[in-house]
Amino acid sequence: MLPQEFILQVIQANPIESVAGSYVQLSRTGSKLKCKCPFHPDSTPSCVFYPENNSFYCFGCHVGGSVITFVQNIESLSFMEAVKMLAERAGLTVPADDRSMEEARREENFRRRLLALNRSAARFYYEQLTGADKRGLLYLRERALQPEIIRKYGLGYAGEQWDSLRSAMLAQGYTDEELIAANLCTRSAKNGGVYDRFRSRVIFPIFDLKGSVIAFGGRTIEPGGEPKYLNSSDTPVFRKGANLFSMNLAKKSQSKRLILAEGYMDVIAMYQGGFENVVASLGTALTPDQCRLIRNQRFEEVIVSYDSDAAGRNAAVKAINLLRAEGLQVRILRVENAKDPDEYLKKFGPAFFRKLIENAEDAVSFLLDRCKDGIDISEIGGRNIALQKAVKLLAGIENRLERSSYISKIAKEYEISQTELQEAVDEALGKNRRKIRRQEQQAVIQSPLIRDTLNPDANGRRRESKAEKMILCYLFRNPEALPEIRASLSEEDFVTDLNRRIYQTFLESADRGLPPEQAIYSADFTAAESGYIAGIPAEYDQIDLNGQSVSDSIRLLKQHRDREQPAESLSDAEFSAQFSRLIQNKRSGTA
Ligand code: CTP
Ligand code: MN
Repeated sequence: MLPQEFILQVIQANPIESVAGSYVQLSRTGSKLKCKCPFHPDSTPSCVFYPENNSFYCFGCHVGGSVITFVQNIESLSFMEAVKMLAERAGLTVPADDRSMEEARREENFRRRLLALNRSAARFYYEQLTGADKRGLLYLRERALQPEIIRKYGLGYAGEQWDSLRSAMLAQGYTDEELIAANLCTRSAKNGGVYDRFRSRVIFPIFDLKGSVIAFGGRTIEPGGEPKYLNSSDTPVFRKGANLFSMNLAKKSQSKRLILAEGYMDVIAMYQGGFENVVASLGTALTPDQCRLIRNQRFEEVIVSYDSDAAGRNAAVKAINLLRAEGLQVRILRVENAKDPDEYLKKFGPAFFRKLIENAEDAVSFLLDRCKDGIDISEIGGRNIALQKAVKLLAGIENRLERSSYISKIAKEYEISQTELQEAVDEALGKNRRKIRRQEQQAVIQSPLIRDTLNPDANGRRRESKAEKMILCYLFRNPEALPEIRASLSEEDFVTDLNRRIYQTFLESADRGLPPEQAIYSADFTAAESGYIAGIPAEYDQIDLNGQSVSDSIRLLKQHRDREQPAESLSDAEFSAQFSRLIQNKRSGTA
């Protein structure tokens, strides 16, 4: 855990408007700044930034919090990672707190052990290629891989024995626990024995950007062997959806263009054919994290080069949408007369493949073509179905000029009048916009429900929870009132747990001379809870709270407590306190 004081320092050194401004386009209204929310589809600017307490809140999707939460959400980072990133941005040095340092050091050591183990395992597999059992090497040679390429990719071989990797690694001082944590070995559920996961497979080590071996893929060399590919699952050093196979090599390419393939073998065959800027996702569909990785490596255009079958085309549609959402230009390679790039290269060679790349189709045309998949457009009925799909797609193109050039193309193709197609698209555009607006309104209407999952105690105690929030809001605005409020309101008076925890944080912060805002930034709360906290002052933005509304709220809470707590469960002291409170209430005429 980092000291709260440091976290506060990080926040103060990173004004939210300047941090957010580097990700989104902000517009100013009064003391606040707004933008279209980057965390949900948003047609109106519903995300508001409050420079005075360095927080933000989206009235559409209720994401909110501190500048740390913002960075956490937009960069998909953990709390600590976001604090570190912001500290770096502001040139602050992250202090070391003993206990967490100890823990962090232990974790870091374990990770380092696993990386060393992975490297040793990769070397072991590589050496097995030239061991007594040559079937791995033979397989790779059959797949037309040159020795330099095998070396460059560090490919290897796991023989058919159940424990050859394990014995070799144990002999080097690694333990079963480490082998299992690295996902290189499995513990048998039956007899507890530990055995090698990869057997009778050629091995593809997976490297991160720094060149560490973080995982493995293994292809069976047995015809019909199942599964065809076996991959490492996530480990302390590997997150599947966040890495791309061969990005360590592709990032060295000077090109702004990246080729994205489905399989390890496609990537390696292309690399061998002279294309260095090529990667594959790792045994899963492409993820947004992977798209971000591509953009962060300064690539601008992606050529999706998936298999030519229906599965490949469907996967390509999904990949296109994700890549475009990340702001990348996308084109599609049509692999003809071969099932995938690997086979194409083997059949026709790199020169023809280069032509395929140069002629790669733009993504929108590809998507428009998909509207006709499985439909006979020589018939009127079929044509109409395909056209309707195309209209929807056209309406989704944001740029007007781009949209109209595709409209004229489709009008020609389907032999219909361009004006009519234009009208149909305009109508769909209007519908889209109305639908988006409705969805956004719906999200706002449902907001209390969304939030009450964070603070489930508030269900059925809405009045009390509202009173609590009003008090918290008042304290946000008037921290100097805390001593007075504290004298008449204890933590136990809170009815709902989350609000109570926030109040506790206020009290603790005040004792250390910190402002209440720091609850928003505290690592004691999850990102969603931080959003809730930031939402409290935002919710009462237009409402003028005064001392009277606070004392009314406090009274409401005390009444609730007196009603709920049966007298027998109270200690003597509590009982007499409650008793005198009741009398007091009676005197002031509220009971
Ligand atoms: N894949 C996987 N698990 C499987 C099958 C495939 O993880 N059971 C992943 C692998 O990363 C593989 C990619 O999906 O590289 C593409 O699968 P496929 O098209 O079957 O692979 P190819 O590279 O064409 O296989 P082959 O070795 O037969 O060329
Ligand atoms: Mn293949």
